[in-house]
Amino acid sequence: MSAHARPPASAPTAKPVTVSAIRAAKGGTPLVCLTAYTTPVAEALDEASDLLLVGDSLGMVVYGLPSTIPVTLDMMIAHGAAVVRGARHALVVVDLPFGAYQESPAQAFRNAARILAETGCGAVKLEGGAVMAETIAFLTQRGVPVLAHIGLQPQSVNALGGYAARGKLAAEAETILADARAVTDAGAFAVVVEGVVAPLAARITETIRVPTIGIGASAECDGQILVTDDMMGVTFGHVPKFVRKYADVGATMKAAAETYAADVRARRFPAEEHLYGLPKPKIAAG
Ligand code: KIV
Repeated sequence: MSAHARPPASAPTAKPVTVSAIRAAKGGTPLVCLTAYTTPVAEALDEASDLLLVGDSLGMVVYGLPSTIPVTLDMMIAHGAAVVRGARHALVVVDLPFGAYQESPAQAFRNAARILAETGCGAVKLEGGAVMAETIAFLTQRGVPVLAHIGLQPQSVNALGGYAARGKLAAEAETILADARAVTDAGAFAVVVEGVVAPLAARITETIRVPTIGIGASAECDGQILVTDDMMGVTFGHVPKFVRKYADVGATMKAAAETYAADVRARRFPAEEHLYGLPKPKIAAG
């Protein structure tokens, strides 16, 4: 059987997706991953997805912050718990936010343990390559499954100087490949590869033994992830080139708000069927 003939990690009637199922999906049917930040959105995406990421992108997408840097551990825990309440099937992974893990492996463990205990999610994600290998090993050896994140790392935007694609120069490409090897050897069960040139993403995918999950990377990756609000058309600002818009929910919301406004102003809403009336008087028998 060819690797691509393997069944997907999730089938419509499947049981909850585990970390082992994600790891075992290497080279098989591509993993379907999306972000979620709330219970109703998790409910809507759950069945179609193998993995739901409560990404720190929520800082920009939900809170209108300029970057992911100000996102706090408490925000991640509140949204993580909300998503777990809406997901019966997909593996829920919660991001460790900036400042919650870079100081030391012990700090990372303390905060990852809070995320696992207080949300009920299945794993955490953290950004960083070789520099985070010691921390990833510390976590995974102590029962915390880790999804690594290499290439473009939005939490390092101040140091990296922007969101441009990585790996165009040979030296940078070699560093990113070394990052992929280091996080895999440290025990990450899968690796998000963000914003790297397509040939490098393909090379990483054929090199490491755990699944790569691409975003702005390559169709050769073992899975794909998008920010749900971008692919649903809810984001009104800049949408990156790597996003395909699968719906225009933002336009639908705008149109609904305009129709509601017209109905309210013309007293067409509420109508009879939306009102609570008084109980009908009972007619005495005989
Ligand atoms: O925070 C996030 O949503 C992410 C994905 C874009 C991979 O890290």
